[in-house]
Amino acid sequence: MNPLTKNSETAHMIWERYINEDSVAIDMTCGNGNDTLYLAERCRFVYGIDIQEEAIHNTDVLLKKNGLDNCELIQCDHKDIRDHISEKADLIVYNLGYLPKGNKEITTTADSTVKSLECALELLKVNGLISIMIYWGHSQGKTEREEALKYVSELDGSIYHVAYLSYPNQKNTPPELVLITRKK
Ligand SMILES: C[S@@+](CC[C@H](N)C(=O)[O-])C[C@H]1O[C@@H](n2cnc3c(N)ncnc32)[C@H](O)[C@@H]1O
Repeated sequence: MNPLTKNSETAHMIWERYINEDSVAIDMTCGNGNDTLYLAERCRFVYGIDIQEEAIHNTDVLLKKNGLDNCELIQCDHKDIRDHISEKADLIVYNLGYLPKGNKEITTTADSTVKSLECALELLKVNGLISIMIYWGHSQGKTEREEALKYVSELDGSIYHVAYLSYPNQKNTPPELVLITRKK
């Protein structure tokens, strides 16, 4: 697989540099569980978050099918994550948008994504990584993308280093990947 041609592979290639068998990871949008599974196979412990019962169920089934029990799945809005998690994390990931094969009306939104990012920064270890794959073709996507990019652009550059990857020659609304690491 050529990792630049598949978004999940591009993200995984970068995540691998930030995790090992002692790591804690948080998947803030676990959806059908593909990323949660990827993380659970490589980390000591993974928290999987989603607002939809269907997503939590799908992720649970996928993890069990693969014999993994090092995850806690939490159904909540990821803007409220501090009510559920206090443990610091090496890697915190988001795949914005709607549940693939699910209800396309239930999407991540600008307001909850930015509030959740504020919480994620508090939970991030020094030298840890926040990865945000922005799918912005959905109804809330344009505003969400703008607000998220504004928020990360204004982060203190002496504490955080932010990178931004886009695919300028791809059609329609190609996803974009934002990466934030904490330097101190
Ligand atoms: C693009 S999907 C994630 C796909 C997932 N990474 C996978 O591997 O299947 C986005 C997910 O975000 C969830 N979501 C939407 N708003 C949310 C919120 N405020 N808090 C937590 N999850 C949310 C949706 O229910 C959906 O499952």
